[in-house]
Amino acid sequence: MNLQAQETTVQVPQFGKGKKYLIITLGCQMNEHDSEVMSAMLENLGYLPTESLEEADLIIINTCAVRKKPEDKVASMLGKYYSLKKKKEDLIIAVGGCMTQQEDSAYYIKNRFKKVDLVFGTHALPRLPHLLDQARKNKEPIVDIKEDYAGREGLPVKPISSYHAWVPIIYGCNNFCAYCVVPYVRGRERSREFNDIISEIKSLERQGYKEITLLGQNVNSYGQDLPEKITFAELLGELNRITGFNRIRFMTSHPKDLSPELIETVKRGEKICEHFHLPVQAGSNRILEKMNRRYTREHYLQLASDLKSAIPGVSITSDIIVGFPGEGEADFADTLDLIEKVRFDSAFAFIYSPRKGTRAARMEDNVDYKEKERRLQQLNQVQQKISKEENDRLVGEVLEVMVEGPSKNDPKMQTGRTRTNKLVHFPGSTELTGKLATVKITEARTWNLFGELKGVVD
Ligand code: 5AD
Ligand code: SF4
Repeated sequence: MNLQAQETTVQVPQFGKGKKYLIITLGCQMNEHDSEVMSAMLENLGYLPTESLEEADLIIINTCAVRKKPEDKVASMLGKYYSLKKKKEDLIIAVGGCMTQQEDSAYYIKNRFKKVDLVFGTHALPRLPHLLDQARKNKEPIVDIKEDYAGREGLPVKPISSYHAWVPIIYGCNNFCAYCVVPYVRGRERSREFNDIISEIKSLERQGYKEITLLGQNVNSYGQDLPEKITFAELLGELNRITGFNRIRFMTSHPKDLSPELIETVKRGEKICEHFHLPVQAGSNRILEKMNRRYTREHYLQLASDLKSAIPGVSITSDIIVGFPGEGEADFADTLDLIEKVRFDSAFAFIYSPRKGTRAARMEDNVDYKEKERRLQQLNQVQQKISKEENDRLVGEVLEVMVEGPSKNDPKMQTGRTRTNKLVHFPGSTELTGKLATVKITEARTWNLFGELKGVVD
């Protein structure tokens, strides 16, 4: 077990002894990390993990609010869990995360799903043990959506992986992109103190982790809110110098803040992986402005070109929204054109989903939904062709991969990730899990690569 020995703020009795928990995580890496923190806190209370809904004495859904789809999923899950509660009266059902940080969603869940015992927002994470203690004693459901950020530092964490760990470096977001709910549900930017990050990272290193991913909604604004100013590039450079990890990753980068200093640090840092997740969102200046992204397509194209010329083999991935209010045919054509020019290694594309309280939700959403679906499909087709072509260029190369374990589709195959975050499948034994290996790429597909094992590095 990799529970980092740290203190929780509230001391509560070990009421989880002999009981089992299951956490269902929706959404992004920050949520995955929050679930890892919850796991550690629950295990400190005596709970043991289970994968089975029937076996669980505590079920937590860690929700996402970025689009409507994951929100709808929560309602359908809760509907199903009702029957479990009939079989096991003292089952605790809790709903937490970004969706429930919003007041109307939190009370909708409480009032619509009477069997839910606890509704808590993202800021309530440090209070989870105490809230569960109350929930098991109370007949009435408990709601904690206070905007109280205290207590987040020093919580224990239990990484799901035995070789990779997420390390948040900055919480929240100040950017207020017009479509995005994140600044409302995760609050203002709060950088972690440099020394707190270092001590967590040193502890992960002692526990044998080989790879870390530094996390933030916008890692590039790291340090700007700290009393002693430090840039993200300086943090990254320092981690490259003083730690023994094989690989250091980071995400997400905002194009408006990606500095030449950062490009130089990634270029020079031998442990820092050559991968930028750099969401562009749209390729039309008119739409970028309406989105409040604060950069132009020309700026983005220049950045992509600077990255490619400075860092050989760099991969650039992106997020794109189609059907933003007012997006016309010409705007969409600009997005397609940008994709063709940048040639992303991969890109996640989403249909715009209005989020209550955001600026875009008050704009007239005048693009027909069928048309949005058509644009999504067209964009995906263009991007998939590019992804395949970019992957084709790697056939014949010998790449270093971090082996994640047996492939989901074929247990005789192992799956690993290149430094550029591409999936590689190759025949090999399970002993390779968590090791660095070299693999010769023999076949390229749109989403992944295939190859043969050449050697084990570490
Ligand atoms: N509708 C559609 N996609 C969205 N994203 C964020 N908010 C919305 C929204 N309201 C996408 C962005 C972001 C990714 C995490 O989710 O592309 O980068
Ligand atoms: Fe949302 Fe924009 Fe902040 Fe990203 S940078 S979390 S899209 S507001």
